[in-house]
Amino acid sequence: MPIEPTTTQTGTPVASDAHSLTVGADGVTALHDRYLVEKLAQFNRERIPERIVHAKGGGAHGQFVVTNDVSQYTRAALFQPGATTETLQRFSSVAGEQGSPDTWRDVRGFSVKFYTSEGNYDIVGNNTPVFFIRDGIKFPDFIHSQKRLPGSGLRDATMQWDFWTLSPESAHQVTYLMGDRGLPRSWREMPGFGSHTYQWINAAGERFWVKYHFASNQGHVEMEGSEAELIAGADADYYRRDLYEAIKAGNFPSWDVSVQVMPYEDAKTYRFNPFDLTKVWPHADYPLIKVGTHTLNRNPENFFAEIEQAAFSPANTVPGIDISPDKMLMARVFSYPDAQRYRVGTNYTEIPVNAPKAAVHNYSQDGAARHGFKPADAPVYAPNSLGGPVADAAAAGEGSWESDGALLRAAATLHSEDSDFGQAGTLYREVFDDAARARFLDTITGAISGVQRPEVTERAIAYWTAVDATLGASLRANLAAWAEADLLV
Ligand code: HEM
Repeated sequence: MPIEPTTTQTGTPVASDAHSLTVGADGVTALHDRYLVEKLAQFNRERIPERIVHAKGGGAHGQFVVTNDVSQYTRAALFQPGATTETLQRFSSVAGEQGSPDTWRDVRGFSVKFYTSEGNYDIVGNNTPVFFIRDGIKFPDFIHSQKRLPGSGLRDATMQWDFWTLSPESAHQVTYLMGDRGLPRSWREMPGFGSHTYQWINAAGERFWVKYHFASNQGHVEMEGSEAELIAGADADYYRRDLYEAIKAGNFPSWDVSVQVMPYEDAKTYRFNPFDLTKVWPHADYPLIKVGTHTLNRNPENFFAEIEQAAFSPANTVPGIDISPDKMLMARVFSYPDAQRYRVGTNYTEIPVNAPKAAVHNYSQDGAARHGFKPADAPVYAPNSLGGPVADAAAAGEGSWESDGALLRAAATLHSEDSDFGQAGTLYREVFDDAARARFLDTITGAISGVQRPEVTERAIAYWTAVDATLGASLRANLAAWAEADLLV
């Protein structure tokens, strides 16, 4: 193949890849060396802001294939029998920055973009079925407490536990985080959850509440804390490498996708608030219904273009699927596109990895780095009498729910079993086995021994006592034993 001449960004051949234009070989550099200036300026702009959360990640392209008929619950094209949909998936850690080690203990992000025939549908979930808080107004505070102190730039156990123990609704998710789920062996070997309750709407307009589950066909495997620490030092990109190499070798990871379906009316009388993101729905009440299989089979050709610039959002829904009255979800619907307009740019949906396969028809125009435009005679407003696109409620297939009452700021208190600690206790006592409980006690003892304020430590002991009285007592004894051992050293 003939070697192409290097050019400027505007396609003009340049004279040298190696020498700036100078006055004499040792002289001053000429500012009118346009290529030098362009090359340095372009380089200075290579980075975009990292995601405010979930900054470190990796991903791949794939396919979702429907295997079971769930058309009685949703009219969404991607879930109809026989449908196959192209996808993009990104995995991530929550708190660490771009270069942070993959194997630091954390919740892992699990985002899937479905390029459906009716527009893009995104499930932006985690490897846990619940979350730390239940109102989006607390999200920036929660994240501040998990990131770094403003002065030292260090992460800080005291503020982490101060926030958690003053936010008892976090107990269920902190139990997942400090348990084995906090250290998956790989992204391929972990489950995924939509976590929130979503709404499905069928062709007859009937509504259902659903939760998504992705079960890994590679099994659900975790690693020990000591191994994770070693790997964090040896290979910060351990998960990213594992995924890339598996796919490169033709070893395509897959997940079985299921839903729990709650009849619309059940939500009103269920024993706890079914829209509370800190709770799971017991499978005994709402069993898993298989929908299909998701397989990752193609690595990105360019990490920045296809993964870093990827913009996933719970606001991306399609006909037959909608959100639910979950305050967290409603906050997220605003937050993600807002973050992406800032992080990637106003016209981020035009970038190939974010652009839908379905046609886009609307009256949005212009903005920084706009690429697409309509014919000059196309109308630029609605309503118009010029044949421009017209909204169609029937095509949109939106969901709905009844809502009434005074405007106020309060937690939902309608249900009899809305306890913050109940499901955390069940997870600890009934899902963890003896060995997992022992590892859990070790992990929380280690994490809490970093707390520098005694009243926060006391609150942490009370928090775990509320989850399980025996656990609280063991924690107190363990902390004392660790402190004594520390003093003896
Ligand atoms: C109100 C609460 C929340 C807010 C305000 C929030 C906000 C954000 C923002 C601004 C981003 C960065 C988006 C970007 O720059 O592209 C993000 C990323 C992410 N969030 Fe949230 N988040 C919230 C709760 C959650 C919950 C409950 C989950 C999981 C169930 C979650 C999962 C994720 C994931 C997986 C990503 C990474 C997406 C990707 O792979 O690009 N977040 N979040």
